[in-house]
Amino acid sequence: MSVDSTAFTQAMSRVPGPVTVATTVDPAGEHWGFTGSSFSSLSLNPPLVLICLDKKASTHEAFTTADRFLINVLALEQSDVAMRFARSGVDRFNAGDMVPCEFGLPGLKDAAARVACSMHAVLDGGDHSILVGRAEATYADGERVPLVYRDRAFARPVADVQMAGVH
Ligand SMILES: Cc1cc2nc3c(=O)[nH]c(=O)nc-3n(C[C@H](O)[C@H](O)[C@H](O)COP(=O)(O)O)c2cc1C
Repeated sequence: MSVDSTAFTQAMSRVPGPVTVATTVDPAGEHWGFTGSSFSSLSLNPPLVLICLDKKASTHEAFTTADRFLINVLALEQSDVAMRFARSGVDRFNAGDMVPCEFGLPGLKDAAARVACSMHAVLDGGDHSILVGRAEATYADGERVPLVYRDRAFARPVADVQMAGVH
C-alpha cells in the first residue's frame, strides 16, 4: 500500500525545513543555482551534508557533474532570493547579489550560513538525485535569523526553548 501524492505532499509540507540556495559553476564558467529546502546535515566524521535535486530540473546536469557546490542558508529577510532561485526561465543571477565566496563559488555575503562542499556522492532518490557534499569550508553568522519553510510558506523560527540536558 502506498499513499497518494496529495496526501504525501500534505504531510511533508508540515515538516519545517531550511531555505537554501545551492550554487555551482560549470567548466564553461556558467553559474547555476536553485532554491532547496531538502538540505540536511548527514555526518559529522567525515562532515557530510545532503540536498535533493529534481531529476527534471534545468540545473540537474550541472550539479550532478560538479566537483564543488555551495549551500547558502538564507536569512529571514532573503525570501525574495528564494523566490528568484525557484523561478523557471529567468536569469537567477542578474540581481547582482551573488558574489564570489568560498572557492569562488557564487554566494550571499549576508547569508545566515554557508557550507562549501566537494562532491562526495550522487545517489539515486526516486525522482530526485541526492547530492552528498563533503564540507570543505563553512561560514556562520550568529546574528542572522535563518528563514524557515513550512506549510508551503516562508516562516520565522519560533523563539528559543531551553533544552538543558539535551545534546
Ligand atoms: C521553498 C522552496 C524549496 C524548494 N526545495 C527544492 C528542493 O529541495 N529540491 C528541488 O529539486 N527543488 C526544490 N524547489 C524547486 C526549485 O527551486 C526549482 O523551482 C525547480 O528546480 C525548477 O527549476 P528549473 O526551472 O531550473 O527546472 C524548491 C522551491 C521552493 C520555492
